[in-house]
Amino acid sequence: MNSVVPQHRVLSGMRPTGKLHLGHYHGVLKNWTQLQHEYECFFFVADWHALTTHYEDVSIIEQSVWDMVVDWLAAGVNPGSSSIFLQSRVPEHAELNLLLSMITPLGWLERVPTYKDQQEKLKEKDLATYGFLGYPLLQSADILIYRAGNVPVGADQVAHVELTRELARRFNHLYGREPGFEEAVEAAITKMGKKAAKIYRNLRKTYQEQGDDEALEKAQALVQDQQNITLGDKERLLGSLEGGGKVILPEPKALLTPASKMPGLDGQKMSKSYGNTISLRESPDEVDRKIRTMPTDPARVRRNDPGDPAKCPVWQFHEVYSDEATLEWVKNGCVSAGIGCIDCKRPVIEAVQAELAPIRENARQYESDPDLVRSIVADGCEKAQEEARQTMKEVRSAMGLSYR
Ligand code: TRP
Ligand code: SF4
Repeated sequence: MNSVVPQHRVLSGMRPTGKLHLGHYHGVLKNWTQLQHEYECFFFVADWHALTTHYEDVSIIEQSVWDMVVDWLAAGVNPGSSSIFLQSRVPEHAELNLLLSMITPLGWLERVPTYKDQQEKLKEKDLATYGFLGYPLLQSADILIYRAGNVPVGADQVAHVELTRELARRFNHLYGREPGFEEAVEAAITKMGKKAAKIYRNLRKTYQEQGDDEALEKAQALVQDQQNITLGDKERLLGSLEGGGKVILPEPKALLTPASKMPGLDGQKMSKSYGNTISLRESPDEVDRKIRTMPTDPARVRRNDPGDPAKCPVWQFHEVYSDEATLEWVKNGCVSAGIGCIDCKRPVIEAVQAELAPIRENARQYESDPDLVRSIVADGCEKAQEEARQTMKEVRSAMGLSYR
């Protein structure tokens, strides 16, 4: 059994909602592609989550799933370093969701801000369902089943990670206490060998008496490095550091993704529902057309009218794509009517074209080889399921369900 180091692991998911656009790229995907250099990453398509709001029109989900995976790959999510998988292919998520539901107070779910917000926002849908209320619990199961220490999410999802932490704490508190825990810890310490045992005891003491976080981290690393002790013993040693029982489900932390500065074509947030997107696979002609027809400062009716970049969505694109010199050129040229809006848009068009060209090319290759995409996902599912199975074995045993 390999042992998991939650601090080194990242998990995140996305609901399949169709082809991705520049907002997703700047907001999420670029971040994922960077994380995969530093962490062991698991990225999944949250198809069950999509059902919580789209249960009446399931037809769009399947195509969206494959489109999304192609977009991830095209944008640089690397199947060599990240596991890419589908939630519904790892049914263990559902089992953990069920088991956690036993210990989830209703009030915790009712108080999650997205519950009421989304019901308000999506008024045309009946979201007074059990599945929708349970959405954040399912998300907690998604995270905890991989014992992921880090969850990159936007600000709107931080409350869900917080709920996950509370559930992990509650679970460990209820089920991490086995009879004879203290004795088992002592036995595990001895198994580390004299030297490591002494270091462990000292660090534990320093942490518990002085709250020294560095000591805690050192002790955790020491435990993780042990080659000759079982996973169960590692969990006991880790749990004992913080004064609890076994840590069966470690608490994750949110890696807050900075809000994307990518505006839509009309200056509002880029979003499919506003019809203001540039998709990652947009053709060069469409990119050209969409940016050329973007609205500009309404005060610039004629070429000679001066404008104000602060009132122009094109300026916001420059802020994403242009260097200092270009920004100066725009500012001066706009307020003095020295440049026309078509001139001003040219560098933006070039920058977006340059960004999308390789992505489009990658996407074309994956589109033309659906078997490759399917096999990448099959591999990812297998790796994910292996991890999920290990966790579930321990969860079942902790909850008294490991009958023979
Ligand atoms: N709820 C997330 C969203 O709407 C998607 C998601 C589902 C997720 N499960 C997750 C994100 C687990 C991070 C971790 O964007
Ligand atoms: Fe906008 Fe540029 Fe035209 Fe000024 S010159 S209004 S910044 S497009």
